Amino acid sequence: MQVIHTLVELRQALAARPLPRTVVPTMGNLHDGHLSLIRQAKALGGTTVATIFVNRLQFLPHEDFDTYPRTLEDDCAKLRAEGCDIVFAPSEADLYPEPQTFRVQPDPAIADMLEGLFRPGFFTGVCTVVMKLLQCVSPTHAIFGQKDYQQLAVIRRMAQQFAMPVAILAGHTQRAEDGLALSSRNQYLDSQARQQATQLAQVLQQIAGKVQAGARDWNLLEQDAIAQLSKAGWEPDYLTVRQRSDLQLPPTRANVLPPLVVLGAARIGGARLIDNFEFDT
Ligand code: PAF
Repeated sequence: MQVIHTLVELRQALAARPLPRTVVPTMGNLHDGHLSLIRQAKALGGTTVATIFVNRLQFLPHEDFDTYPRTLEDDCAKLRAEGCDIVFAPSEADLYPEPQTFRVQPDPAIADMLEGLFRPGFFTGVCTVVMKLLQCVSPTHAIFGQKDYQQLAVIRRMAQQFAMPVAILAGHTQRAEDGLALSSRNQYLDSQARQQATQLAQVLQQIAGKVQAGARDWNLLEQDAIAQLSKAGWEPDYLTVRQRSDLQLPPTRANVLPPLVVLGAARIGGARLIDNFEFDT
């Protein structure tokens, strides 16, 4: 496995490697969720590239950019064990040398709701770095975890709108045995919060169950779920049922509902967790 820090070296290394070329962009601090994306990439054959870059542009001033765990050596050991071919881990000066003043502004219709409402500018930061990383790697395929459901939707839309020659693929969310979605930020949970953390997935599944049983008052469903989690000590941002296609609220009066997803974000014990489940009615 080659560990590469500069764009010049990356381009040289890639020229010698077979297609297809699949990239898994990450911010490092890898867990089994990331590694499952690497396995998915490997199954496509050709060359597997992981990128590791903690992207300042997608953090708000009060967020955890400075303290975000940077664990390059451990990450590389895990990637090597999975048979990853290339790790591209640029420094900030390598990736944003000028600095980066051009930004990719996503469609507000999909980016200024849910995560974008609570983390303004987040998706501009994500789109800018993903556009840049994809330009650096020129992959045939790029895989993003479905846990960041809206991120995946925004990136798909960007790739489509810019006619980017890359297939955007989704990786299934990996969960701990008790149902908690794996996330780098789970390590911010103390033992009590870790025990409670599964409540987010449980509440989301309850909402899905209610919709399957006929509930259609989207606001009421959200208010009930927010009340339930708040009572248990959480600070919920949103818990909402959306159409998978555009992340808008579904119609209230349709006989047949489109494919749905229930998404949530909430804070517990200093950590902000997000999760989602796709479901049909
Ligand atoms: O999901 C992430 O880890 C990041 O948002 C990404 C896609 C690597 C961009 O920095």
